[in-house]
Amino acid sequence: MIDPDPRVSGSGIERLRQHQVEVTVGVEAEACQQLNEAFVHRIQHQRPFGILKYAMTLDGKIATQTGHSAWVTSPTARREVHRLRDRCDAVIVGGNTVRQDNPHLTHHGQGSHPPLRVVMSRQLYLPQSAHLWDQGEAPTVIFCGPEPDPEMHQHLEKQGVEVVRLESLTPAAVMADLYGRGHLAALWECGGQLAAAAIAQHCVQKIWAFVAPKIIGGEQAPSPVGELGLERMDQAIVLDEPQVTTYGPDILITGYLAP
Ligand SMILES: NC(=O)c1ccc[n+]([C@@H]2O[C@H](COP(=O)([O-])OP(=O)(O)OC[C@H]3O[C@@H](n4cnc5c(N)ncnc54)[C@H](OP(=O)(O)O)[C@@H]3O)[C@@H](O)[C@H]2O)c1
Repeated sequence: MIDPDPRVSGSGIERLRQHQVEVTVGVEAEACQQLNEAFVHRIQHQRPFGILKYAMTLDGKIATQTGHSAWVTSPTARREVHRLRDRCDAVIVGGNTVRQDNPHLTHHGQGSHPPLRVVMSRQLYLPQSAHLWDQGEAPTVIFCGPEPDPEMHQHLEKQGVEVVRLESLTPAAVMADLYGRGHLAALWECGGQLAAAAIAQHCVQKIWAFVAPKIIGGEQAPSPVGELGLERMDQAIVLDEPQVTTYGPDILITGYLAP
């Protein structure tokens, strides 16, 4: 495929042809496009490609009504998520997920490229001790609002965690920062509140939804996407190019959000 980067687009092919190298463009065009989807998005939109991944039960819950979520899916499905993390530059969660799940967000040995672990928390009301603060595992950056808790701010920096204050803490502002770090793909592994905000701000281009054949119930149990302000079923966001795969007992549905 032709490199979409306007700085080089087509000139490499031209150069090869000038040197009598035969070049065929457009072989397996769709597959090439998909292979390079994060790079293409980065070049065209000046933002990393956003993937929202979640795991839910058959009745659409990502945790119990007490907030417990370990584990919704099987080890086979979770291994696939570890591989996906390895292909991403950043993995993003919000403060509640840190408080409830104390996640590691590493690739658990399923690759060689540990993603940057990213937390969004308005005031840094976070636990003093968490796996994400252990910088020996992988680096972590926390984005917070303009007035974080000073004690926690200091505590985190002492542990080597980078803290970035933003005037307005939004998914779009975080993606702009990650773009500046050269990132191609960012994986949203957050709960429903932050997922809804990320979708509303066009920070999600692809969905990875695991569905486990389990029912947990609970009227207050959270679902994967919070308030989007949609009132009618014909306003629903419909996935393009949906695909279904199985991992052990679990089903993975992927697809794209229309630009
Ligand atoms: N099964 C799954 O796939 C999965 C994945 C992740 C989480 N979970 C579950 O989901 C639950 C947490 O859900 P959650 O929706 O509260 O997720 P979350 O990932 O913690 O996101 C919400 C938090 O993000 C922070 N935030 C910063 N800026 C924000 C903005 N502009 N908009 C919204 N949030 C912003 C806030 O943290 P502060 O309050 O610190 O300011 C807020 O409380 C937990 O029970 C967890 O176990 C399940």
